Amino acid sequence: MITLLAMSDQRTYLSGFGNTFVSEALAGAVPERQNSPQRPAHGLYAEQLSGSAFTMPRHGNLRTWLYRGRPSVVQGRYTLVEPPKGARLLTAPLEDAPPPDPNQQRWDPLPYPEGEVDFVDALTTYAVAGSGASHSGCGVHLFAATASMDARRRAFYSADGELLIVAQEGRLAIRTELGVLDVKPGEIALIPRGMKLAVSLPDDRARGYVCENYGAPFVLPDRGPIGGNSLASARHFLAPVADYELLDEPHELVAKFQGRLWRADLSHSPFDVAGWHGNYVPFKYDLANFQTIGTVDFDHPDPSIFTVLTSPTPTVGLANVDFVIFPPRWMVGEHTFRPPYYHRNIMSEFMGLIMGAYDAKEKGFVPGGASLHNQMLPHGPDAFGYEKAVTAELKPVKLENTLAFMFETRYPQIVSAYASELDGLQDDYIDCWQDLQRNFPKQETNT
Ligand SMILES: [Fe+2]
Repeated sequence: MITLLAMSDQRTYLSGFGNTFVSEALAGAVPERQNSPQRPAHGLYAEQLSGSAFTMPRHGNLRTWLYRGRPSVVQGRYTLVEPPKGARLLTAPLEDAPPPDPNQQRWDPLPYPEGEVDFVDALTTYAVAGSGASHSGCGVHLFAATASMDARRRAFYSADGELLIVAQEGRLAIRTELGVLDVKPGEIALIPRGMKLAVSLPDDRARGYVCENYGAPFVLPDRGPIGGNSLASARHFLAPVADYELLDEPHELVAKFQGRLWRADLSHSPFDVAGWHGNYVPFKYDLANFQTIGTVDFDHPDPSIFTVLTSPTPTVGLANVDFVIFPPRWMVGEHTFRPPYYHRNIMSEFMGLIMGAYDAKEKGFVPGGASLHNQMLPHGPDAFGYEKAVTAELKPVKLENTLAFMFETRYPQIVSAYASELDGLQDDYIDCWQDLQRNFPKQETNT
């Protein structure tokens, strides 16, 4: 059992992806020898949160014991939250969606709403893949929020998947049952399936992306011949320390279960965990800590070298979802087309831009925007990007002011009716490639 403390943004965290931790906000809250004493210390209740089947092998067995003011069963009966909210936050398979569109799609940033909309109400499904009920695939949501959940005494959890939250604009203070994560643009948060959270907005508004992973929980990818280092390091993943509140005031709990939202009344804050131990924990990770690998002679490697986290399937090398980033880096390849090459892919690729510019596109793909290149759809640099790449002097170049990412899944991504009708859907996206000319055979020029 390893508990390493790390400081980030004035808050203390526990360091290390996959570790088993112990954290107490109240001395003695966590029993030393056992999990479920006859009478836990301080009058606390013991409760286990299981993120895997009890019988999973140790390396995949996920559970955390929580010592809390009241067990989670002290809540009102769930009632269904009626649409229209239910029509914006969805789970695969979609009940009512337009025919899957085989065109490349790209969106402008999701605009901030008029009035106050918190994180859970802001979640807007753009695409889904696979099936939530069979624990395969994912949902891709965007959010543009203008209100804090804690001020409204609201909490949320998804029973459908873990939440990989990509902060794009504005900071997030994410209170979870295990403690608080402060997340800024350029960082991600990973919230286990079923764990309650409340997102507050220190900057009054925030925007970002969410991959709701229905499949196996994200893990760090194997490195193969890269060896024991590089890519994302376990020590840079930071879990919260226990931090409880005892608020006997009405709260609302919103649960996402099989694509529908349900609400229940609580007489108290659900963030009443005075201590916990286990390995089923939320994390945050600063993408600036990702150590990037690239070519040092010729040819652009496949983008799998940029994989931060992967949700594996039983087929080795086949991801349910990969989370991939394109961070600032040196480009040094010789006699090489340096941008991402043209390709078609059995995997489907949803991309977002966190900040700066993306090297393969001149315009149209902006911070907060998104694009979808579905299963077997051709894509690659636009005409401007191609011309720049084939005429560039191939000296070492540092790509800076850029941070893009991709949710890449083995399943086709089905766009929701809402996202397919957004004003920000760019009808002319395909035009960016149409100026690519046939240069073969080479034209003879008289000089
Ligand atoms: Fe691609």
